Amino acid sequence: MSSGMLYGGDEIGALVFDPGHHSLRVGYAQEDTPKAEIPACVGVAPDDSPKLEPEVKPDDGNVTTSSSAYKYYIDTTFLHTPRPNMELHHYMKDGMIENWDLFEKILDYSYEKIIQSESQYHPVLFSECPWNQRQKREKLTEIMFEKYKVPAFFLVKNAALAAFANGRATALVIDSGATHTTAVPVLDGYVLTNAVVKSPLGGDYLVIRSKEMLESIGIDLTPASLVANKEVVREKDKPRFTKKKISFTPSNSYMSYMIKRTVQDFQQTVLQVSDLPYDERTALNLPALHYEFPSGYHQDFGPERFKLAEGLFDHAVLGAGHLAATSAGMCDVDIRPALYSSVVLTGGNSLVQGFSERLSKDLSSRTPGSMRLKMIAANGTVERRFGSWVGGSILASIGTFQQMWVSMQEYQESGKAQIDRKCP
Ligand SMILES: Nc1ncnc2c1ncn2[C@@H]1O[C@H](COP(=O)(O)OP(=O)(O)OP(=O)(O)O)[C@@H](O)[C@H]1O
Ligand SMILES: [Mg+2]
Repeated sequence: MSSGMLYGGDEIGALVFDPGHHSLRVGYAQEDTPKAEIPACVGVAPDDSPKLEPEVKPDDGNVTTSSSAYKYYIDTTFLHTPRPNMELHHYMKDGMIENWDLFEKILDYSYEKIIQSESQYHPVLFSECPWNQRQKREKLTEIMFEKYKVPAFFLVKNAALAAFANGRATALVIDSGATHTTAVPVLDGYVLTNAVVKSPLGGDYLVIRSKEMLESIGIDLTPASLVANKEVVREKDKPRFTKKKISFTPSNSYMSYMIKRTVQDFQQTVLQVSDLPYDERTALNLPALHYEFPSGYHQDFGPERFKLAEGLFDHAVLGAGHLAATSAGMCDVDIRPALYSSVVLTGGNSLVQGFSERLSKDLSSRTPGSMRLKMIAANGTVERRFGSWVGGSILASIGTFQQMWVSMQEYQESGKAQIDRKCP
């Protein structure tokens, strides 16, 4: 099957965008992985810095105009470089796009630097959170047709896409991302929005807990981007490193973002969910893990590894197992067996070691013995982190989907509300 549609005889590839609080995933439909994962954060600085890096063109297409008072820094390399007066801003809020101006900068960058092709040639499929608001869906539709002149557009709930990516049209999708973990029932490809259950415990929560712990034992969290060089020191010895010489103080928003990235690496490497509820004595007998910070400080981490990750499960109401059981419980009795036999695990935070094993145990203790429970969790890191994007890539390239798109013509004839009719 070919991806995209035929326009004037040209075969054109559809694009898939999957926005989240941690990153935006973007790439071509039919491919296995997104072309890029762009941090969901934009650096904004007054435009008086020396013009060393290429920048995203302003709307009028000129590379630099004196009229643009700000410069925007997008994607890891540009974002991580400290600059005078650069403030970092997030454009997502509660799972939805909040700051449209910044989001458009990210889209400009995506077309120009990642896709390197003009937007008018590619149908676009966007993922959205299950509780996206009507006004926001219409706004995105309007931007894509009016500003980017896309030939066709479509919106699909990210959980439904993650189910597709795992070969299921019906599933109970457990998505653990940066800012939240959700349990979302999907029936025949459609999200049952009334039974979506959400908790604010995700990767960011683990970062906060980890940072508190690391600071309480006095660990220096200077990010790698500010370390010029470091010496080899013995375990638990005070680090000896020199900071990069910069003539200005980086903004607080820059520092907190970079420290967050530093702690994120610790969180991803060190944390582990134990099979059974955390017990200090058991944890003491489990292997410790050695970790070195950008400053050069290093030590073993033992029970803390498990204690920190336990927060995702020990909460009576917000724990991942409880979310899943509650969501299934809100669905019709008839479909529960189908949901329990297809529990799809997705999202970056589900990669915390031991997450799927613990969820499986937790959930089986909450379901009747007669209920068949099956957990579906992609083994590959990429498939797991980019579940929604991969599902979008598959959907946008199947033949029967091609009639589903909202075309430019339909948009022009019926307006942005067309999205509510064609994309439930
Ligand atoms: N290998 C890993 N081990 C543990 N955690 C990981 C791993 N890879 C990514 N993460 C965490 O997953 C989170 C990002 O997940 P994901 O990309 O699904 O979020 P998102 O969809 O952008 O955000 P949200 O769902 O909150 O809008 C971050 O907190 C990150 O630290
Ligand atoms: Mg997400």
